Formats: sequence, structure tokens, C-alpha cells
Amino acid sequence: MPAPEASPVVILGAGGHAKVVIEILRDSRPDLRLVGLLDADPSPRSLLGAEVIGDDSRLPGLRREGVAKAFVAVGDNRRREALGVNLQEMGFELVKAVSPRACVSPSARLGSGVAVMAGAVVGAEAELLDLVIVNTGALVDHECRLARAAHVAPGCALAGRVSVGERALLGVGVSVVPGASIGADAVVGAGSCVISDIPAGVVAKGLPARPGEALPRGDLA
Ligand SMILES: CC(C)(COP(=O)(O)OP(=O)(O)OC[C@H]1O[C@@H](n2cnc3c(N)ncnc32)[C@H](O)[C@@H]1OP(=O)(O)O)[C@@H](O)C(=O)NCCC(=O)NCCS
Repeated sequence: MPAPEASPVVILGAGGHAKVVIEILRDSRPDLRLVGLLDADPSPRSLLGAEVIGDDSRLPGLRREGVAKAFVAVGDNRRREALGVNLQEMGFELVKAVSPRACVSPSARLGSGVAVMAGAVVGAEAELLDLVIVNTGALVDHECRLARAAHVAPGCALAGRVSVGERALLGVGVSVVPGASIGADAVVGAGSCVISDIPAGVVAKGLPARPGEALPRGDLA
């Protein structure tokens, strides 16, 4: 039987995170054919052999031409969420990018547009809602729940039943004890250790992580 034709997919974003996603999709999704990248800077250029073909204004045209799948490769949580919701409203399906070198439990649940990078481990009955990033080498153990557009940065270690709120960022190498809860839009500083709940919308850092000032809006990634 001939192989089914690959579906066209467009990636939003053309930075370092997009490079990782391009390689994951090439490695793991023979069912997809990358038509190009859209970026706020639409100047034509190549990223690992993939071409920047314009900015978001191309989306309606691409949709009309039959491109029905997309991936948001943008690190900033708020922006990734906004772009993802917009794409879904336009009728795009958000594909997943799960590295073949990640280890994801068969009982884990992954939403649309989720990225799981190489070396990451996602445990039994973990739940990753739409647009979550589990970055390189991060450990997300059993029954963790990562809400929409949360980002667990490289090398984090989340014990079982940790809850991470919408758009929260856990910086590089953060550790979280079992069952702790991190509120929506919180940022936990790189290398911090969370031993108790972190409220929504604060920056918490240190050993142990202590909530500090309310978060000024913007990308602290
Ligand atoms: C916590 C963080 C958000 C603070 O950013 P910021 O508000 O710009 O902080 P500053 O660099 O101005 O530092 C403010 C103070 O916090 C301290 N600090 C900053 N980051 C810290 C951290 N991760 N752990 C402990 N202390 C930290 C600084 O030493 C400084 O202390 P001082 O006032 O005594 O001199 C940032 O340092 C961080 O860790 N971001 C995570 C980045 C990341 O891992 N992204 C993932 C990309 S994939």
C-alpha cells in the first residue's frame, strides 16, 4: 500500500526553540511536511534548511491553500498561548512535537501543541495541557498536572503530583517536592528548590524558593 501523503504544517517562530522543534518533527513525524516558518521578522532566511516565508499575516492564505496543521514554537508562555488560541480559532490543528528520545508514559495525557524535548521523562498519568513545554532533560513524574502554556525548562525535576499553573515558568534546573503547587503566571528562578506552594503571579527563587515581588509582565525566560 502506498504511504499516505504527508500533511502540510507551518511553524510559528524562528528562534532557538523553533530549531529544536524542526528537528523533532523531522525525526518523529513522517506524516508531516513542513511548509515553512512564520516569524515577527518576516525577512527571508533559512533555519536548519527550513525557510521563513513571512509573518502571521500569511496564516489565512495558508489555511485557504489547505494547510491545516501548525505548531507554535515560541518560548514566551503568554505569547505562545495567544498564538495557539488564535490558530485554533482559525481552524488549525495544533500538532504535538515529542522527541523520539523522550520517555513518555503510555498513561500520560498530552494536549494539543505540546512540546516534549530529548531526554525528558513524563511519568504515569501525568497531564500536559495544550501548549505546554517540557524541555530538554526535564523530569515530570507521575500524576503531575501542567496547565495550559506552562513551561518546565531544561533539567527540572518535578516529583509526583506537582501542579503547575497556566503560563507558569520553571527555570532551568528547578526541583519541586511531591504534591507542591505552583500558581498561574508564576516564575521560579533557575536552580531553585520548591518545598511549599508558590502563589500565582510571583517570582520565587532560591533554596528553598521564596516568593518575592509580584511579577512585572514580560518575558523573563
Ligand atoms: C528569577 C529570575 C526570573 C529573576 O530575574 P530578574 O528579576 O531579572 O532578576 P535579577 O537578575 O535582576 O536579580 C535580582 C536578584 O535576584 C537574584 N537572583 C536572580 N535569579 C536568581 C535565581 N535563579 N536564584 C536565586 N537568586 C536569583 C540575583 O542574584 C539578584 O540578587 P541581589 O538583588 O541580591 O543582587 C531569573 O534570574 C531566572 O532565574 N530566570 C529563569 C530563566 C530560565 O531558566 N529560563 C528557561 C529558558 S529555557
